[in-house]
Amino acid sequence: MKDFLLLLKRFVPPYKKYLGLSIIMNILSALLNLLTFAIIKPILELLFKTTDIVYNYQPYDFSSFGSALHSLDALKNNFFWYISEILNRYDATTALVILALYLVGATVFRTLAMYLAFYFMIPVRTGVVRDIRNRINSKILSLPLAFFSEERKGDIIARISGDVNEIESSVMSSLDMLFKNPVLIIIYLIGMTVISWQLTLFVILVLPLAGYIMGQIGKKLKKTSYVGQQQWGYLMSLVEETLGGLRIIKAFNAEDKIAKRFSNSNETFRSITMGVFRRQQMAHPMSELLGTITIAIVLVYGGTLILDNNSAITGSSFIVYLTVFYLLINPAKDLTKSVYSIQKGLASLERVDKILKAESTIKDPVKPFPVTFEREIEYNNIWFRYSESWVIKNVSLAIERGKTIALVGQSGSGKSTLADLLPRFYDVEKGSITIDGRDIREISLRDLRKVMGIVSQDAILFNDSFYNNITFGVENATEAQVEEAARIANAHEFIVASEHGYHTNVGDRGCKLSGGQRQRISIARAVLKNPPLLILDEATSALDTESERLVQDALDRLMKNRTTLVIAHRLSTVRNADRICVMHEGEIVEQGSHEELISRDGYYRRLCEMQFLNPK
Ligand SMILES: Nc1ncnc2c1ncn2[C@@H]1O[C@H](COP(=O)(O)OP(=O)(O)O)[C@@H](O)[C@H]1O
Ligand SMILES: [Mg+2]
Repeated sequence: MKDFLLLLKRFVPPYKKYLGLSIIMNILSALLNLLTFAIIKPILELLFKTTDIVYNYQPYDFSSFGSALHSLDALKNNFFWYISEILNRYDATTALVILALYLVGATVFRTLAMYLAFYFMIPVRTGVVRDIRNRINSKILSLPLAFFSEERKGDIIARISGDVNEIESSVMSSLDMLFKNPVLIIIYLIGMTVISWQLTLFVILVLPLAGYIMGQIGKKLKKTSYVGQQQWGYLMSLVEETLGGLRIIKAFNAEDKIAKRFSNSNETFRSITMGVFRRQQMAHPMSELLGTITIAIVLVYGGTLILDNNSAITGSSFIVYLTVFYLLINPAKDLTKSVYSIQKGLASLERVDKILKAESTIKDPVKPFPVTFEREIEYNNIWFRYSESWVIKNVSLAIERGKTIALVGQSGSGKSTLADLLPRFYDVEKGSITIDGRDIREISLRDLRKVMGIVSQDAILFNDSFYNNITFGVENATEAQVEEAARIANAHEFIVASEHGYHTNVGDRGCKLSGGQRQRISIARAVLKNPPLLILDEATSALDTESERLVQDALDRLMKNRTTLVIAHRLSTVRNADRICVMHEGEIVEQGSHEELISRDGYYRRLCEMQFLNPK
């Protein structure tokens, strides 16, 4: 109960106005519903010729609270008085037609009110899910990279689609539960009390008992539903992986294996959802049964009252009473259904909250300092680890402005990690990184990242045109600038040779391009951004010799007059760096110029020899 009030408090407030309108319409429609049944009573009496009560007009009086209450009786009396007037004035058939017209009229307004109640609810339900999706998306953008190495991508997609929809239905259910059905139930109960309080007392005693039984069934629903959604997320990550790996799956004839993996998980998902659905569907027959039992009890009790000629209720009133009671069964049923939906929704909310409430470990400073890069960037005795073991151990390194610093070393020695610390993709655990002496944690992330351009091993392109991929992250670039950047990056030629020139789409993740072309686009992107510091993480490693030459050529132009941190696997590409740092198991074990390091006969020389690089 507390959870779902909290759910409403979090997502519904912007839509209070609509909610209010919807509630008013619901009340209106319930009242009109009662009215239609009140019209049925005189029709029945007319047909059965049972009426001998004479109604007289009673004046209304609102001068005090007591008399106002009395006016309610007057209202009921005058309603029947008015109908008896019709009955007296016209012959029976005409009176029937008039009453029938009233019935239709009242129903027109009632259904209109019902429609409007839904009408005003729609902005609420669509608004709530839109807000949640937006929140998740912004959160995904703001969470640090580390968060996503723990979560599966497909599962995150499942949360933003399936779970959000589940929350929608649960929010709607809880609104029904809090505002609509109780209102209807109360209005119908009042109507029933007006007709016969003795019978109603009976009903009020039985209803809570029925509610309790229903609640017991709903209890386990949330937990099973959570497991179900979790499994759904897993299933989605399998799809995501399959889509990404289709090329390899086909090449290795692994279709059967992947299909089996999927169908197994799919089967698990099915069996969990079967349990959830079966339990959920119990709401319906259970409430049907309990409702009928109460009606049966009321029927027996009311019937004996009439047979005893008790003045508590007349035959026609009893029929109206039972009709209203039937009306009450529906909202009561909906209420129990709501309880079940809410359980499912809360399970989904828990999953969505894993994202929404995730703490961002990489935070902007409260009072950020402006960024400057006049002198140098410095790593001061830094330590870093992803999990248990240290990946970077006590590294100190200065990158002076205008210099090219190279990081070399075996794969896994921590080169990329060291570079990722600069734009604060991760934060150091011990030590500090400073830029012009200022800790980078004192600078806003936006400003800090403005200073840097990154070209990494796998060029990341978006499913968009060349033009938009190059201008990505740069506002107000002119076409001339974009073309200039593409020329510097050796990309202009193949771009204009493509079908629509700069407006050709590059395909999903740039799949319509070769590796070298992709890389040159991402270099053009860096050229256009024109950052003071350039980080090249194995930018040419994935390329063949021919495109490597083109890309290296582009890189050389990009690096001119710029500070560069270059990570390279092929040592030939870093020969000319101002300083080469050799990393080994998270430490910088040697640094100096190519010649110095060769003459030292240490790690670097051995690396060169392994690559058959002439150490001359
Ligand atoms: N996201 C990550 N989560 C956990 N461990 C990682 C992650 N990225 C890299 N590592 C580990 O950190 C070490 C250094 O990796 P990396 O910096 O990529 O090396 P290099 O770029 O020199 O090849 C490796 O042992 C690798 O397994
Ligand atoms: Mg690397």
